[in-house]
Amino acid sequence: MAIHDPNYVRIFDTTLRDGEQSPGATMTSAEKIEVARALARLGVDVMEAGFPAASPDDFEAVRRVAQEVGNLQDEGREPPIICGLARATDKDIQAAWNAVKVAKHPRIHTFLATSPIHMQYKLRMDPEEVVERVANMVAFARSLCEDVEFSPEDAGRSDPEFLYVVLGEAIKAGATTLNIPDTVGYTTPDEFGKLIAGIKANTPGIENAIISVHCHNDLGLATANTLAGIAAGARQAEVTINGIGERAGNTSLEEVVMSLYTRKPVFGLETGIDTTQIMRVSRMVSNYTSIPVQPNKAIVGANAFAHEAGIHQDGMLKHSQTYEIMRPELVGATQSRLVLGKHSGRAALRQRLVEMGYQMTDEEIVRVFERFKQLADRKKTITDADLEALMTDEMGQARELYTLDALQVTCGSIGMPTASARLRGPDGQIHTHAAIGTGPVHAAFTAIDEIVGVPVTLLEFAVNAVTEGIDALGEVTVRVRYICEDDSAECGDAVNPQSGAAIQRTYGGHGADSDIIVASARAYLAALNKVLIANGLYDGIPEQSAETVVAK
Ligand code: KIV
Ligand code: ZN
Repeated sequence: MAIHDPNYVRIFDTTLRDGEQSPGATMTSAEKIEVARALARLGVDVMEAGFPAASPDDFEAVRRVAQEVGNLQDEGREPPIICGLARATDKDIQAAWNAVKVAKHPRIHTFLATSPIHMQYKLRMDPEEVVERVANMVAFARSLCEDVEFSPEDAGRSDPEFLYVVLGEAIKAGATTLNIPDTVGYTTPDEFGKLIAGIKANTPGIENAIISVHCHNDLGLATANTLAGIAAGARQAEVTINGIGERAGNTSLEEVVMSLYTRKPVFGLETGIDTTQIMRVSRMVSNYTSIPVQPNKAIVGANAFAHEAGIHQDGMLKHSQTYEIMRPELVGATQSRLVLGKHSGRAALRQRLVEMGYQMTDEEIVRVFERFKQLADRKKTITDADLEALMTDEMGQARELYTLDALQVTCGSIGMPTASARLRGPDGQIHTHAAIGTGPVHAAFTAIDEIVGVPVTLLEFAVNAVTEGIDALGEVTVRVRYICEDDSAECGDAVNPQSGAAIQRTYGGHGADSDIIVASARAYLAALNKVLIANGLYDGIPEQSAETVVAK
């Protein structure tokens, strides 16, 4: 099997854990399952599904991923390893094990900081105590699970000599993967490569373990550092889709995978990733987290394969490799072809969606077909990208507390923009409200606010056309801030224990429609629903509503 091949680099995806820690990137449990299925299809070797000890919801999300995706035998492929993160405490490690043990290949990932600043101020522990805790906790994890990963947090700013000792103890206690995080994105490629080479040369027992690298992008060096670590001997790369993650993000999966692929003569290494799935997963993660992909983002940005300058276009016409180092179809970036139209039937739609990885019941296909027909009436040709936007919107709507039943807006240069919104509430009741605003979006959001009644501040609002053309489907992402003031509510620590300030959380929402005001209302409602669910502001969330459409 490729995994024993010394030239094989394991791809450890942490979109659902480190990626979900990006401000506002919170995904519902059902969205996480869909992302996990898409990651399995992409061919990741390991999937870090979350941090089970963080909350009952996190635990349940990891357990579901372990159960549903950790046993998927898709197209004869082994299911991925499902990993749960744990601090180096009995309680966290036990929770991680309880959540992942149902997977065919479970892994516990435990960590403890090793840099002087973290040991002194955060942990308030001596180096000797750190070494002892690592040995004990890795041994405990290993008593539960055969596959244990250990990370010395902030390794990038740790003393290499101390790392050799800590890592040696972790290996003795049973760790099978040693992950080296540049937690604050501080190192340069040269330094990070040397750190990995030093660990490989000086850590007792390292020949029996896999070295992994985990870089953050604070200086924009995450991909370069990861590749330097791989060149120095690491055989696992920890990455996220679109590079999302804490602060400036993590190393992006697509950049590392396509670097290894495109520059194979340089690295001589390979991964198990099906690169043609990259674009699809990128869009899905962007939609669910409501974090747009910057147009010039390498590999997955809208302009990544666009050639604008005359000289470039001329070169491309003569030979595509004059300005193109990889073909767009290699990463699934050619989804603008016509796939369906007004006269396509339900069977054709279902078949196309199955080919794209979605599985639906008859009932669900009826609803999706209804929206497809509405779209086809307004838009001449429907592409894969349109279907993808429609499906992520549908899946989001299907499990929301409030759904948009109807929206009527009047606006223009004369008169007052007015919106009437009709929502179906969690109790199945219809609620209607009309409001005026400074523009149609403001009026629509105000009408929705009057019904839902959750106080938020709109931070970001972005509209994008899914495809080219005047009749394109519009995609809207919004980001809202909710200030959690009630300490006794289920919103966890409402007040920062150090500063005493009320904790603010951001949530995103995504909507798609050929009418951008409707798309905006859908996106706003999706964000409000996340606020309600994540902060326990609504009792009795209908559980069955979380299951409506599942991606294969
Ligand atoms: O960045 C980091 O140090 C982490 C660890 C938990 C691996 O995410
Ligand atoms: Zn990290």
